[in-house]
Amino acid sequence: MKKDANAMSRRKFLASTGALTGAALLSSTPVNGITNETANIMPQPPAKKLKVALVGTGSRGNGMWGRDLVQSYPDYLTFVGLCDKNEGRVKTGKEMIGADCPTFTDFEKMMRETKPDLLIVTTMDSTHHEFIIKGMEMGADVITEKPMTTDEVKVQAILDAEKRTGKNCRVTFNYRYSPHRSKMWELLRAGEIGELTSVDFHWYLDTSHGADYFRRWHRKVENGGSLWVHKASHHFDLLNWWIGSDPETVFGLGDLNHYGRNGAQRAENCRTCPHTGSCKFYWDVMKNPTYVKLYVENEKYDGYLRDGCVFKNDVNIFDKMAASIKYKNGVQVSYSLTTYSPYEGYRIAFNGTKGRMEAWIQESRPVSDVNYDEIVLFKNFSRREYIQVPFGTSGHGGGDKLLKDQIFLPNIADPFQQCAGVRDGALACLVGIAARKSIQSGQPVNIADLTSIKPQEKKEYRRIL
Ligand SMILES: NC(=O)c1ccc[n+]([C@@H]2O[C@H](COP(=O)([O-])OP(=O)(O)OC[C@H]3O[C@@H](n4cnc5c(N)ncnc54)[C@H](O)[C@@H]3O)[C@@H](O)[C@H]2O)c1
Repeated sequence: MKKDANAMSRRKFLASTGALTGAALLSSTPVNGITNETANIMPQPPAKKLKVALVGTGSRGNGMWGRDLVQSYPDYLTFVGLCDKNEGRVKTGKEMIGADCPTFTDFEKMMRETKPDLLIVTTMDSTHHEFIIKGMEMGADVITEKPMTTDEVKVQAILDAEKRTGKNCRVTFNYRYSPHRSKMWELLRAGEIGELTSVDFHWYLDTSHGADYFRRWHRKVENGGSLWVHKASHHFDLLNWWIGSDPETVFGLGDLNHYGRNGAQRAENCRTCPHTGSCKFYWDVMKNPTYVKLYVENEKYDGYLRDGCVFKNDVNIFDKMAASIKYKNGVQVSYSLTTYSPYEGYRIAFNGTKGRMEAWIQESRPVSDVNYDEIVLFKNFSRREYIQVPFGTSGHGGGDKLLKDQIFLPNIADPFQQCAGVRDGALACLVGIAARKSIQSGQPVNIADLTSIKPQEKKEYRRIL
């Protein structure tokens, strides 16, 4: 298969900070045709380290984008500021990250005083746009966690700000980086099933991790845009990337059948609940010392309860969702998301003119000696083929480390076009936003009616940061 030849010499922001030296060229080309794990050699450190600031010192900010960066890339970057609206959590965050920098509760003050090259946004979803926009206006490039944002007005504001400021914003779609998913992308482009015509994609969240969304701020649509946006934007981004075209029309269905008002009993949170003996969803946050330090000890500042009851009456998101999506190139998708399954994972099938490619991936795996994900390739009038892709070794199926290496190490190629900018971030959110609107109106929603983005038959690719 033809590989992308767009390996950039170095990202713009690093070049502008003088960080580019005669760094060794690392390749993320598949090893033995199987994975795109980067080689375990660190390239030459830059002359000047990248100045990084982070807003949102919760779980994701402190781990994936905090401590892991300090420990893995000490010669390439340095933290200059940490910010959170919770004054206790930002101090705990600094300790957990192990950064030697000032902390702030005032975002603009942090930007003014520390002048970062790069801002990392890991706050609650509905607030991402504020920091993405202000961050670019105040001179930084931005990396934001998914979802880029939660409604179409904020999507448009981000698109406009990127154009106006000339800065770049990268959306960290780590799901694209799992080796078995890159393999699917590769097989589709190699024409193994002929021309792609439709996709069946069904995602299952379990009664542990899935239920956790209903304990936290995610249970309200005004915070996370509902799981249509908070969670499914990962899946819609994968679809957009695999299919290589833009979504055009979305019809959605959804309901709340299990959590929230459906419970027989409820309380404010698990610690104060009188029903702990009979509730299958009872969860003791006090058993997790990290969560105690991060959330319980900082409740006094904002009242946020990490162990909220999954049956609270204020849950206003769906817990089962289905959508039909039509792509500009004619591909059609049947998608569903279920949030109370006995296991976590997904089933996918790509149907093409010459065959079909399937996978059943179980992410919460029972103890087993299997150490690979399997893709099955059925070719019409032929035998089936089993393709085994070894598990990645970092979080999210091996994707997290590959993503960070590509962002923070010099000259990592992008052979699978995994780098995602604001257009990709927008289109992933817009499918979920369209599904939400479709449920309200009972009608299909056109993506082109939501923002200035006009769906293209061939998806645009741009390597940034
Ligand atoms: N890509 C992935 O696989 C993945 C995994 C987990 C989380 N995430 C994303 O990371 C982000 C953070 O999630 P989390 O699990 O760490 O949540 P969290 O609740 O642990 O942390 C969010 C933090 O943001 C802070 N915050 C909220 N609003 C703020 C504001 N206006 N100003 C300053 N700080 C504010 C909160 O006080 C909290 O400390 C979310 O957008 C989530 O979608 C992505």
